[in-house]
Amino acid sequence: MTKVLVTGGSGQLAKCFNYIKAEYPEILFHFLDRHALDITDYESTWNYIKNNSLNYIINCAAYTLVDKAEDEPDKAKAINVLGLGNLVKISELQKIKLIHISTDYVFNGLGQEELKEDHKPDPLGVYGKTKLEGENLIMNSKGQAIVIRTSWLFSPFGNNFVKTILSLSSSNQKISVINDQYGKPTYGLDLAEVIIKLINSSKSFNNKIYHFSNEGVTSWYDFAKSIIELSGSKSTLVPIKSFEYSSKVIRPKNVALNTDLIETTLNIEIPYWKDSLNKCLKMIE
Ligand SMILES: NC(=O)c1ccc[n+]([C@@H]2O[C@H](COP(=O)([O-])OP(=O)(O)OC[C@H]3O[C@@H](n4cnc5c(N)ncnc54)[C@H](OP(=O)(O)O)[C@@H]3O)[C@@H](O)[C@H]2O)c1
Repeated sequence: MTKVLVTGGSGQLAKCFNYIKAEYPEILFHFLDRHALDITDYESTWNYIKNNSLNYIINCAAYTLVDKAEDEPDKAKAINVLGLGNLVKISELQKIKLIHISTDYVFNGLGQEELKEDHKPDPLGVYGKTKLEGENLIMNSKGQAIVIRTSWLFSPFGNNFVKTILSLSSSNQKISVINDQYGKPTYGLDLAEVIIKLINSSKSFNNKIYHFSNEGVTSWYDFAKSIIELSGSKSTLVPIKSFEYSSKVIRPKNVALNTDLIETTLNIEIPYWKDSLNKCLKMIE
């Protein structure tokens, strides 16, 4: 039996793994939230991993507050860099394969083309900078470690754009949404499924980066419009420009992750984001 530790067990992506775990009886998942396993605490993390004969770690633990990170860079670094560093070191020493999740926010979003895994990163804010530092730890690991970069994550769990729009649409008549930032939404359950496929494929885990997002590029405004339409809400959306939205950090304008590498590696077809959004909304209903 393959034993997989999922860190950050109460977060959005970890809950996606938890939701689909029954489809994979060959895998024994250990879900541990921050209270049960704090990745910034080297000793207890070492002990837990050593005592449980794990084969894989999926690191879903992260500092993900993009705006707040500007005010608390040390906290963001402690989790996204130092905490990850503990996992890298422990997985090297205990010969465990490590899968780390990163973000489109490592890019500046200034180009027009789809971005491949080797596109030069240039993060705009503290969150993206700490995530890039984390990626570098994986790329320099002497163990078996990979990065999966993803973008615009949504699911029925945790905090995300879909749930925010649904919640605003139940109380507000008008919702302002940015219409000049573009990206690829990613359904957490699709991402979790692909990561499990990667584990079951026994592919090499040598310091690789893979991009994964759903098919199709959209703006936050058009994403919100689909959420409103598909959920049957009567709310009105108001398109606004990035500069009209008060934020401490500049967000990348245009990041479409190119997913050819993961598609050819696993021989998969990635669903169109609107089809996955539909599935997500049905689950939330
Ligand atoms: N959300 C997106 O749109 C998006 C887009 C691209 C990439 N990503 C990446 O995808 C990954 C998963 O994101 P997500 O949406 O699932 O994030 P999330 O819901 O914020 O989950 C992160 C989890 O990590 C936990 N955590 C924080 N510090 C920890 C520590 N020291 N030890 C152990 N656990 C700790 C948090 O627990 P507490 O809540 O108790 O602090 C939280 O449950 C992250 O790496 C993120 O950078 C996300």
